[in-house]
Amino acid sequence: MYPRIDFTYLSEPDMIQAGVLDAARCVSVCEETFSLLGKGDYLMGGANHNSHGLNIVFPKETKFPNMPVAGPDRRFAAMPGYLGGRFDVCGNKWYGSNHANMEKGLPRSVLTMMLNDKDTGAPMALMSANLLSAARTGGVPGVAAKHLANADSKQLSVVGCGPINKACFSAIITQLTSIKSVVCFDLFLDKANEFAKWVTDTHGIEAHGTDNTEAGFRNADVITVAASRLKPLAFKNEWIKPGATILVSGPVSADESFLTSARIVYDHTPLHEAYVEDAVASGDKERYYSGVIGGPFYRLIDSGKLPKLHESTGLGDVVNGEKIGRRTHDDRIIFIACGMAVFDISWGYDVYKNALARGIGTNLNLWQTPNQG
Ligand SMILES: NC(=O)c1ccc[n+]([C@@H]2O[C@H](COP(=O)([O-])OP(=O)(O)OC[C@H]3O[C@@H](n4cnc5c(N)ncnc54)[C@H](O)[C@@H]3O)[C@@H](O)[C@H]2O)c1
Repeated sequence: MYPRIDFTYLSEPDMIQAGVLDAARCVSVCEETFSLLGKGDYLMGGANHNSHGLNIVFPKETKFPNMPVAGPDRRFAAMPGYLGGRFDVCGNKWYGSNHANMEKGLPRSVLTMMLNDKDTGAPMALMSANLLSAARTGGVPGVAAKHLANADSKQLSVVGCGPINKACFSAIITQLTSIKSVVCFDLFLDKANEFAKWVTDTHGIEAHGTDNTEAGFRNADVITVAASRLKPLAFKNEWIKPGATILVSGPVSADESFLTSARIVYDHTPLHEAYVEDAVASGDKERYYSGVIGGPFYRLIDSGKLPKLHESTGLGDVVNGEKIGRRTHDDRIIFIACGMAVFDISWGYDVYKNALARGIGTNLNLWQTPNQG
C-alpha cells in the first residue's frame, strides 16, 4: 500500500484473455453505465462535467518541419472522467488517429487507457485500449438495440464495414436474436464482402455485401452506422421503413423530413449540450457542427425544427424507466451516440478487475517511495 505505488499493465493479448471481447458482458456493463449517467453519478471533462474530451487540432500548415499538419481523420484526443456506482474510479483514454496509419499496417487510431485512484491519482492500470474502445463503442448501440429496437427485427444493415461496426454488430446481435439476414454496405465492395463473410463465418447468419447506399438502408429493421469521413454519407426518408431503428455511432446526415418525423433518442443530452457550447465558443458554429456526429440535429434544434436538448430523451432516462423510448411498433427511431469516457472507464474497470482476479497482466512499480526532494 502507499506510499509504494504499483499498477497493472495489460497488453492487447492480456485484454483479450481478461474478456474485453465478451460483447454480452460489455452490453450489460454499458447498460449499468447508462443508468449511472441518467442519475448523474459521473463527471467528465470541463467545467460543465460533460465534455467529450480535449483534442489537439493540427494546423493546415506549419513553418516547423516536424510539427504534424491536418490530414484525414488526424487528431490526438484525451478523454478523462470519473464514474460512480460500483466503479468509483477515475480514468483517461488517450489516442492518436490518422487515416494514413493504414499504409503502415496500423489501425486508424492507436489507443491507451489509464485507470486512477479517485483520491490520490495513483495509477491502477495502464491498458491497451483499441479493443476496449471498440467494444464499448459497440456496447452502447447494443444497449440501444435492447431498449429501442423491435424484438421481431429480421434484417440488420451494417453501414461502414470497419472495426467499430464489427464491435457494434457483435454487441447488437447479442440483443436481437431474431435477425435472419445482414446487409453490409461500404464505399469499397471488397470491405463489404469481407464483413459479410465474417458475419456468416462467426454468427452463421446469411449476409451479403454492397457498395450501393440505398441498398445499405432500404428494408432494414435495424441499421448500425459507423462509417468514417472518407465520403459524406446521407440517407433518404423514403428508404427507412416503419418500425426501423437506426443506431448512429459515426457521422451521417439525412433528409430533414426524416429527422423531423423520427423519434430521436440521444446517448446523453448533457453531452450534446456541451458540444453545442463548444461550437458557440469556437466562433464558427457551422464548421464545428460539420465535424461532429450531432451536427445535423443541432442545426435543426437551432432553427426550432426539433425540441431543445433538455426537453429530449437520453438513453439513461429510458434505461431508468423515466422516459419512454419506443412508443409504437411503427415508430422510426434514430439513436445518436458520440462516445463518452465513462464507457471506457466502466468497461476498462470491469476487464481490469477480471484480470486481477485471474492473475492476468504485468505488475509495474511507479516508486517504492516518492522522491520529494
Ligand atoms: N461514437 C463513438 O463512440 C465512436 C468511437 C470510435 C469511433 N467512432 C467512429 O466510428 C467510425 C468508424 O470507425 P472505424 O475505426 O471502424 O473506421 P475505419 O476507417 O477503420 O472504417 C470505416 C469504414 O467506413 C467506410 N466508409 C467511409 N465513408 C463511407 C461512406 N460514405 N459510405 C459507406 N462507407 C463509408 C470506409 O471505407 C471504412 O471501411 C468513425 O467515424 C469513428 O470516428 C465512433
